[in-house]
Amino acid sequence: MVELVDRLATQHSLSDVELRELLKVALSDSTVLQLLRDNAVRTAREQFGLGIYIRGLIELSSYCRCDCLYCGLRRSNRSAERYRLTHDEVMECCKEGYRLGFRTFVLQGGEDGTHTDKWLTELVSAMRREYPDVAITLSLGERGEDSFQRLYEAGANRYLLRHEAANEALYESLHPAGRGLRHRLDCLESLKRIGYQTGMGMMIGVKGQTIDHIVEDLQLIARMRPEMVGIGPFLPHRATPLGDEPAGDLRMVLATVAIVRLMLPKALIPSTTALASLSPTGRLEGILSGANVVMPNLSPSDIRAKYAIYENKASWGKEAAEGLSALEAELQTIGYHIDYARGDFNL
Ligand code: 5AD
Repeated sequence: MVELVDRLATQHSLSDVELRELLKVALSDSTVLQLLRDNAVRTAREQFGLGIYIRGLIELSSYCRCDCLYCGLRRSNRSAERYRLTHDEVMECCKEGYRLGFRTFVLQGGEDGTHTDKWLTELVSAMRREYPDVAITLSLGERGEDSFQRLYEAGANRYLLRHEAANEALYESLHPAGRGLRHRLDCLESLKRIGYQTGMGMMIGVKGQTIDHIVEDLQLIARMRPEMVGIGPFLPHRATPLGDEPAGDLRMVLATVAIVRLMLPKALIPSTTALASLSPTGRLEGILSGANVVMPNLSPSDIRAKYAIYENKASWGKEAAEGLSALEAELQTIGYHIDYARGDFNL
C-alpha cells in the first residue's frame, strides 16, 4: 500500500485494480487512509500553500425539471417549496458578496425552464459589467452548446456539472427520466471546448454505488482532467425515493478526495457543503484530505431552507457568508487561512 500511494503521488495514476485495492484498504485500515490523506495534503500545500479559496454560492432557483432520485428539488417532490431569485435579488447578493471580499460568484440552481438564455445572459452581463474582476461560475445543469457559448460570451468563466456516475447502468438507475450519461458527458466536452474551467464530480455512497463504480468515476476524472472536482457524501432527503437510504461513508469520501488530489495536483477541489453537513468536523477533514476551496452560501437567508437538495444542509454559521470570520477562525485551528484571490486554475 505504501508503494501504491507513493506511485499515485509521483505518477498521478494507478490501474483499476490498484485503485480498487487502495479504496478497499483505506476504508478498513486507518493508517493507510492517513497516509493517503497526508500525501494529498502535502500535494495541495505545494500548489496552494495554506490558503483556502472561497466562492460565494447564490442559489438561483429551486424549480427543477429533472427528477433525479436522490435530490430534494426533483420535480416529483410536491412538498418542496419553490422559489426563484429575481435579477435584482441576485445583484444584491453580489453586492454583499463583493463587499465581504468574494471574488468568485457561483450561480447554482435547478434546471428552471424560465432561465432562458436571454434572462441568464442579461444577468451574467450585468454581473460582468458591475464586477469586472470577479470570476463567474455557473452550475445550472445541462444546456445546449449554443447556450453555453452565449453565456461564456456574456462573461461566465467556469461551469460546474457533476457527471454524477461514470457507470452507465448506475447513471440510468439514478436518473431514469434524464437525457442519459452520453448527453451529460457531451455537455462537459462542449464546456471544455468553449473554454470554461470545468468541474465534474459525484456523490459517495448513493444507492447502488460500489467501489468499482467509484474506480470508474476516478478513471473518468483522470481522463477528462477537469479544472474542478466536487465530491461529497450522499445525504438522504425524506421526500425522495432514496429517503430511507444511509448517508455516504465519511472515510470513503475522504479517501476519494485524497486520490483525486493526487491524480490532479492542480485541481480546485471544494470541501463540500455535504461533507460539512455529514459531520461537524467534515469541512476541516476535507481540507486535511487535499481540498482547497470552500463555498459559503451567499443566498438571501430567507430562501436558504428552500434550497434543500438534502435535509439538514449546513447553511448557517460557517456555511453562511456572514460567517467568514468564523470560517477564518476554524481554518486557523489547523493552520490555514482564507485566500481572497479569484483563484483561477493555473496550468
Ligand atoms: N445528497 C448529497 N448530494 C446531493 N446532490 C444532490 N442531491 C444530493 C443528496 N441527496 C448533489 C448532486 C448535484 C449537486 C448540486 O448536489 O451531485 O450535482
